[in-house]
Amino acid sequence: MNVLLIGGGGREHAMALGISRSPLCKKLYIAPGNTGTASLGENTPLKADDFNDVYKFVNSNQISLVVVGPELPLVEGLADFLNGLNIAVIGPGKGGARLEGSKEFAKAFMDTHHIATADFHTFQSWEIGIAKAYADSLSLPIVIKASGLAAGKGVIICETREDTHRTIEGMLSDNWFGLSGKTIVIEKFLKGIEMSVFALSDGYSYKIFPNAKDYKRIGEGDTGPNTGGMGAVSPVPFADDLLMQKIKERIIEPTFKGLKAEEIFYSGFLFFGIMVSEGEPYLLEYNCRMGDPESEVVFPLIENDLVELFMAVDAGRLDTQEIMIKPGFCTTVMLVSQGYPDEYEKGKAITVPNTLRDVTIFHAGTKQEGDEIVTNGGRIMALTAFGNTLEEALSRSYAAAELVQFEGKYYRRDIGKDLR
Ligand SMILES: Nc1ncnc2c1ncn2[C@@H]1O[C@H](COP(=O)(O)OP(=O)(O)O)[C@@H](O)[C@H]1O
Ligand SMILES: [Mg+2]
Repeated sequence: MNVLLIGGGGREHAMALGISRSPLCKKLYIAPGNTGTASLGENTPLKADDFNDVYKFVNSNQISLVVVGPELPLVEGLADFLNGLNIAVIGPGKGGARLEGSKEFAKAFMDTHHIATADFHTFQSWEIGIAKAYADSLSLPIVIKASGLAAGKGVIICETREDTHRTIEGMLSDNWFGLSGKTIVIEKFLKGIEMSVFALSDGYSYKIFPNAKDYKRIGEGDTGPNTGGMGAVSPVPFADDLLMQKIKERIIEPTFKGLKAEEIFYSGFLFFGIMVSEGEPYLLEYNCRMGDPESEVVFPLIENDLVELFMAVDAGRLDTQEIMIKPGFCTTVMLVSQGYPDEYEKGKAITVPNTLRDVTIFHAGTKQEGDEIVTNGGRIMALTAFGNTLEEALSRSYAAAELVQFEGKYYRRDIGKDLR
């Protein structure tokens, strides 16, 4: 069959690798794809937000399966649209995507279904006074979240009362995040260590994928501004059976039960952003798709035929599948451009020595220019490696990080260090 994969980052390169390896996949199209996916299928400039164009493309290329990488098309209802055309799609409809698209909705959902999460209140733009009063009743620091999509930038952790008030006004009255911030969630700060848990659902049952930990800050020791992700490891060494059992019982099970109770048909990936605080898991947020850069360590650990798995999702028979997970660890280190996430230069030639061993390169921000591959973004490429131990995997990712060269190369040298 012909498969269309929506997206163009490292996540989609990792998914494309899995899909292209399936004997069931005749032709893979990636929209828009990247330099890395170009060797696994055909990149196409198709825009996922133009449903008419998607319709034309899917028709003229006999697409039977559409896999949606990023959240935006899902929140906009691409999956509903494709379902209406009887095309298999991996990703929830608009209703399910609200779990990511509206933090107000997600937190209310957690509350209704008794899912462990930080204490919170939601406020609208005309409720600045009571929002401040509620924030004043919490101890510092205080977490303030724009309810709508904000490309990972809509959460502010306020260290002072002044900061808290300014942020409330900034979002509710000064349009800091446009419409996304016209409703805010104020919540209690939870101290702990974060991890990501993933499930794949067909609307009837679900399977848990390998868990992961990602590193968002630009600087070592988790300092400096947030990025699209600087590295990841899977599985998380501290996530033992007891913790995973608690996460399943207190978060995953009640979520899928809640979706059924609210008659929200959820198929596709569901990401649980977990904070482990004194050994107890709390749900920080849902994402209606896989994470990036977590995908660059999770998919390489999956031994299943991805297309077979996805078709089982479409048939509502995920219960017949068993997720086969490679033993050991997978790690990825992201190479970025000097200056990222602020200003950085593009167009620097990248050299990948052909002596590079034991590593898979997932492209994020690169461009083919004649015979050369050049930098074309902030995050350039993720260097993924396996190992029997976390140390072994990391040493391979880091050996590659040293060997790949481009002007202004930067990477964090402490990925996974906190876990050893
Ligand atoms: N209640 C909380 N306590 C402590 N840190 C939090 C809390 N909520 C969010 N954070 C931090 O802010 C980050 C972003 O919040 P999240 O809810 O994941 O929103 P998004 O990913 O949409 O920006 C989290 O990864 C976490 O580091
Ligand atoms: Mg998050």
